[in-house]
Amino acid sequence: KSFYTSEMHVLSIVVIQGEKLSTTIVLGAQWGDEGKGKVTDFFASKADLVVRFQGGNNAGHTIVIGDEKFALSMVPSGVMYESCTPVIGSGCVIDFEVLKNEIETLNNKNIDTTKLKLSYNAHIIMPYHKILDELIEESLGDKKIGTTKKGIGPCYGDKIQRKGIRIQDFLSEDKFNERLKNNLEEKNQIIEKIYGGTPIKFDEVVNEYKKYKELISSIAEDTSLFISNSVKENKEILFEGAQGTLLDIDHGTYPFVTSSNTSAGNAATGSGIGPLNFEQVVGVTKAYISRVGTGPFITEQENEIGDYMIEKGAEFGTVTGRRRRCGWLDLVSLRYSKRINSLSQLFITKLDVLSGLEEIKVCVGYKFEDKKITDYPLIDEILDECEPVYESFGGWDEDISKIRKYDALPENAKKYIEFIEEFIDVPIKYISVGPERNQNIIR
Ligand code: GDP
Ligand code: IMO
Ligand code: MG
Repeated sequence: KSFYTSEMHVLSIVVIQGEKLSTTIVLGAQWGDEGKGKVTDFFASKADLVVRFQGGNNAGHTIVIGDEKFALSMVPSGVMYESCTPVIGSGCVIDFEVLKNEIETLNNKNIDTTKLKLSYNAHIIMPYHKILDELIEESLGDKKIGTTKKGIGPCYGDKIQRKGIRIQDFLSEDKFNERLKNNLEEKNQIIEKIYGGTPIKFDEVVNEYKKYKELISSIAEDTSLFISNSVKENKEILFEGAQGTLLDIDHGTYPFVTSSNTSAGNAATGSGIGPLNFEQVVGVTKAYISRVGTGPFITEQENEIGDYMIEKGAEFGTVTGRRRRCGWLDLVSLRYSKRINSLSQLFITKLDVLSGLEEIKVCVGYKFEDKKITDYPLIDEILDECEPVYESFGGWDEDISKIRKYDALPENAKKYIEFIEEFIDVPIKYISVGPERNQNIIR
């Protein structure tokens, strides 16, 4: 039986019938893992295309359909729908081995990946990028970023330095060999002489990469042209962000960020269509906040509250299995996220995780010296000294995971949602109350 005929799929189409998507960006408004996979899948039943525009397999996007759980790192979440074409745009970085394995895993579950398209201009994560990511992190000691060690930073570094190897370079054997040779001359020196690592052999890489030729040539395409034409044909297109706004290379908590622009502007650049083409930006945020890796986190709860969120919310990294740091929702940073991304909607996830807490706090300002700051401070020294100013709400005990109508939520849960909505001044139209595809409340 085809995966696509499953009852769950039909149900989810019924749930969101009538929604017009056009061109919608779905992105993380926090430090990643907000539930973008679930939210993209939720909208994707109506989408013709789902486009990834940045990041690589540092992303881990979870989709739960009945008893099945999928963790996608590279293939856009729209792949779950037969009608949807998944596109990996030029702003992404690709680990061939991971992509191939992910496609095979999906195929083994009867999910069709034959429509997948990959930009000629996306960059390849090479073996030396992964080794350097490990070695650089190790050398930083307690100042490490806490990267996913997937080679993301070194790969984007090469792209910016114009040393990268793109999909189209790989498809031309001479160009690939030449660029690989030049890169290895430099990278092997760095690996050996600076970090004391083992150099990489040219022939081994060439041999290994031969096995990806067939797959890559079958999916490589001018995706900018394809997406542009799809816009002209009024297709419904979702742009699926990876990571989150506070991990953005320009606007996040630098240097504790990822190496790409995770914010809405990059949906245009990273997919190759102009900025006037976008109609909606959906910011995904948890009802609390989490972060993996190092870096400032003003509302972090290193106590029983944080432990409660970790346990109840199963806050362990999809990619690395690391325990996520958790804390209260921070409306100062969420408002910043609205500014950076032009958020037109908020999709709140994991409200169910807060059930059972006696008191729920939300950060409405930062105290710096004797002043209250409400605009997210860009200067590190100020951010480091900020203390959270909280507003307090009563909790609720009820299990809300089976609730599908807003009115049926406990009064305190509604108060909490409406306070966030008013503070951020962005409508909260969707609330997720569980990991499963259909555990949503549409207001
Ligand atoms: P992404 O990287 O933004 O796609 O998020 P991840 O998939 O890494 O992490 C989100 C986790 O929360 C996944 O395990 C989801 O299955 C789960 N999840 C998503 N929405 C909800 C929700 O409303 N409630 C609960 N309890 N879990 C959720
Ligand atoms: P999704 O798409 C959460 C974090 C890492 C580290 C920093 C830099 O699932 O939300 P990198 O490997 O990108 O150089 O690591 O960014 N990070 C993420 N955190 N969710 C992600 O992706 C992340 N991708 C990277 O933990 O702090
Ligand atoms: Mg994730």
